[in-house]
Amino acid sequence: MCGIIGYTGKENALQIVLEGLKRLEYRGYDSAGVAYFNKGTIEIKRCRGKIKDLERLFSERPVSNTGIGHTRWATHGRPSEENAHPHRYGRIVLVHNGIIENYLELKRELINKGHAFSSETDTEILCHLIDNHIDNKSLEDAIIEALRPVKGAYAIAVMNELEPEKIVGVRKDCPLIVGLSQNGHFLASDVPAFLHYSRDVIFLDDGEMVILKPDGFRIMNLDGEEVRKSSIHIDWNPVMAEKGGYKHFMLKEIFEQPRAIADTLRGRINPDSGEIAREEFNIEEGILRNTERIMIVACGTSYHAGLAGRYMLEELARIPVEVDIGSEFRYRKPVLEKNTLVIAITQSGETADTIAAIREAKAQELRVLSICNVLGSTAARESDGVFYTHAGPEIGVASTKAFTTQLASLYILSLLLAGLKGSLKHESIKKLISELLEIPHKIESILKHSSTIETIAKQHINRRGFLYLGRGINYPIALEGALKLKEISYIHAEGYPAGEMKHGPIALIDEELPVVVIAPKDELYEKLLSNMQEVKSRGGIIISIVTEGDRNAKELSDYVIEIPPANKYLSTILSVIPLQLLAYYVGVTKGYDVDQPRNLAKSVTVE
Ligand code: M6R
Repeated sequence: MCGIIGYTGKENALQIVLEGLKRLEYRGYDSAGVAYFNKGTIEIKRCRGKIKDLERLFSERPVSNTGIGHTRWATHGRPSEENAHPHRYGRIVLVHNGIIENYLELKRELINKGHAFSSETDTEILCHLIDNHIDNKSLEDAIIEALRPVKGAYAIAVMNELEPEKIVGVRKDCPLIVGLSQNGHFLASDVPAFLHYSRDVIFLDDGEMVILKPDGFRIMNLDGEEVRKSSIHIDWNPVMAEKGGYKHFMLKEIFEQPRAIADTLRGRINPDSGEIAREEFNIEEGILRNTERIMIVACGTSYHAGLAGRYMLEELARIPVEVDIGSEFRYRKPVLEKNTLVIAITQSGETADTIAAIREAKAQELRVLSICNVLGSTAARESDGVFYTHAGPEIGVASTKAFTTQLASLYILSLLLAGLKGSLKHESIKKLISELLEIPHKIESILKHSSTIETIAKQHINRRGFLYLGRGINYPIALEGALKLKEISYIHAEGYPAGEMKHGPIALIDEELPVVVIAPKDELYEKLLSNMQEVKSRGGIIISIVTEGDRNAKELSDYVIEIPPANKYLSTILSVIPLQLLAYYVGVTKGYDVDQPRNLAKSVTVE
């Protein structure tokens, strides 16, 4: 899991590649490197650490018009300068995102033929293989030959010292996008890498290769046949992919949620007629009508959205729902009945385990609907239907706006299915739709009180652990709150169904343990108050998320954060906002890099 970029054109390639790498750092950041043509030879600079460390290696930036770059999240070989990309053998220099599964076998064969290796990576064998085939061949032909024995996942960008100004990119099971502009051509793992320069993009499919030159490009398949593809114009404004004045992407993305949800609703629901635009799901009405079961697959935060979605889909549309983690689903030989609709939830659309789950479902001839944030991503392309969460680029590693837009999307889907299945009357659907339209405004009112949450957070930065409790649909929100805290503040946190607490975790409670209780007024509220009593009587510190004006929960709490009233499905979107802010302020106050927490990467494109 890494980020790659390449540029060839009239502008300063080194500048463009370094800038692009900064925007790809969310994909990994334990080492970085660039390679560029300089007076007929290829020069490489690389180091352990982040792009800012790489930049320090340049006292002045040479002017070059062709270059490639890489930011790494280590899989094979520890983070070090030797293992940093670009790798080189002979005249061939390349960067790679992915994993070569049979690299040990291929490496052994190469060593037997006299090759010496300078890194521990799986990637380096690609340079050796391509160099073996380059004599009297073009770079693209040598790559086609070299990749024949290679098994695994890769997006690569390759240069040959004898072919200046040319970059060849190939994609298999890892994202690779081509950007077009008057002043040159780009390739990258993700659009924000070159969004400042190009918004006309081509999404390569598996097994496709692009040959970039300053004045043109060609796309071929790995049989050497020309492939015709059209470009798509991306609306994302480059400023949308920047921090926009906030200290961190995560904070910006938390504050963007009213806009992100409003965009996700736009054009999809009509409050006057109570209609939902089914075409937005890109899936046949017959499939939806005949759905008898739903299987949701996802990872991390998206999985938590799926868990909350189960409550919405079962209660509103009365369809039985199972939810599974992608990495479990793919290997447990799931028994899936006919008329099961598989829903894959994924922000990036590139999470390897979720993609594998989609492929498993397709192999069992089931229909797959993705709820996805990235246009043209692998999940979007491989699914039968896609409902895009229009959250815009999410750069912070900790997912925030993707989660709330996923919840809103699942709510819309539940209402659509409820209408098709007749489980809710039209008037009820209309009312539930109008309540959804109030959510952006309600989030804004929570965000106005972020300083209260900051004050609470600052008082608990030295705690050793947190417990998050919720009941019913708020249990997944407790899980999500705990995940947010863990990933950016490195404090252990556990999410638990409040009713299950007495079966074990209650033993943890003492006057040192903050217990975050998600306690909006819903049908389980009274029961939750009893759970709060249980915590209180054991000396636990209660931080509660309550409905505005709720005096009972307030009396039991040490700290209270209020959210506006909403129906129980929509209150999930509201109650997670203070949990995101709590985690953010704890992480920042502790001095951590919340946008790029240790050991994590934004997009987990390997197993
Ligand atoms: O792109 P995806 O939604 O498929 O990503 C799934 C997880 O990797 C992601 O949600 C991860 O758990 C986040 N770091 C959580 O904040």
